[in-house]
Amino acid sequence: MGTKSVDDLQRQLQETEALATSAIEGASTTAELAAVKQDFLGKGSALTKIQSQLGGLDPSDRKAAGQAVNASRSGIEAIFGRRLTTVADEERGVQLAAERIDLTEVSTVNDQPSGHAHIVTQAWEELEDVFVGMGFRVAEGPEAETDWHNFDALNIPPDHPARDGFDTIYVQHGEPRSTLLRTHTSPVQIRAMLAQEPPIYIIAPGRVFRQDTADATHMPVFHQLEGLVIDRNISLADLAGTIEAFTESYFGAGFSSRLRPNHFPFTEPSAEFDIQRPDGSWLELGGCGMVHPNVLRAGGVDPEEWSAFAFGFGIDRLALLKFGIDDLRELFTNDMRFLQQF
Ligand code: DAH
Repeated sequence: MGTKSVDDLQRQLQETEALATSAIEGASTTAELAAVKQDFLGKGSALTKIQSQLGGLDPSDRKAAGQAVNASRSGIEAIFGRRLTTVADEERGVQLAAERIDLTEVSTVNDQPSGHAHIVTQAWEELEDVFVGMGFRVAEGPEAETDWHNFDALNIPPDHPARDGFDTIYVQHGEPRSTLLRTHTSPVQIRAMLAQEPPIYIIAPGRVFRQDTADATHMPVFHQLEGLVIDRNISLADLAGTIEAFTESYFGAGFSSRLRPNHFPFTEPSAEFDIQRPDGSWLELGGCGMVHPNVLRAGGVDPEEWSAFAFGFGIDRLALLKFGIDDLRELFTNDMRFLQQF
């Protein structure tokens, strides 16, 4: 082996490069190129074999020979890289052309099934209709919310135990823990108060977020509808009457509501409200109460002059009830066979 000369080696390299170049140029798919790469740059390739012969060269020649092998390898790699770009582009072009959808095409076939709004969207829109019919306006707030709007202003100061119950998802923005994905639609109460003078009659449907594992009754992303009424001499009777009117209007005759004492930091007194189905069974729907004076003050509303009630409930659960579905996850797996039924 010691007799191998650098000239020999150079010749072998040139042959290999020529072969590799024509093989690369001849490959017309990325799959073919992958095979060519294996042949000319892989473990069993001529180049690798040549490399293994370097040890048999005269020590004084080894460095130059090593450099020559490396130069060949880089040369082949460069040719390969250029060809791969071209071929991959061509393949993509062909695929795009094949998958192209003509959006200007008008279907003349009438038996195409047409889509419809998702169950949650249907419930959301119907709820808006019911409340707008009762004199409410629809308000909105951001989904990424400040800790202040979501908690402090709602009478939940830092370290308040109620914060634990919300399983908050924080967002990396500004000071640590200063921004979060709103855990409920209640911060829209504060935004509405800061944006306008009372009297205020608003509902705020929207998406809310909690660190929750999906199961039949929980999802990490779900929807709530918040209600807020601020006027002079608003009482608990107005709240109960509003909930009852909404229940009948949304669910129809045969459904009724009840309030049960509960506790929320943002209301005093607070209650939970349940809906009774025609079969007599009850469904826990949401919370409500007379807005706490601290909350009114945070929103710049004078609690001596104005009184207020608020309520909030889950839209998804209500849609389940309305459509007779028993697993919340069904709403979000987007199985057309399921969704088409509604
Ligand atoms: N924000 C509460 C929650 O997500 C629900 C709620 C309770 C809203 C009482 C209200 C209320 O407006 O008065 O659990």
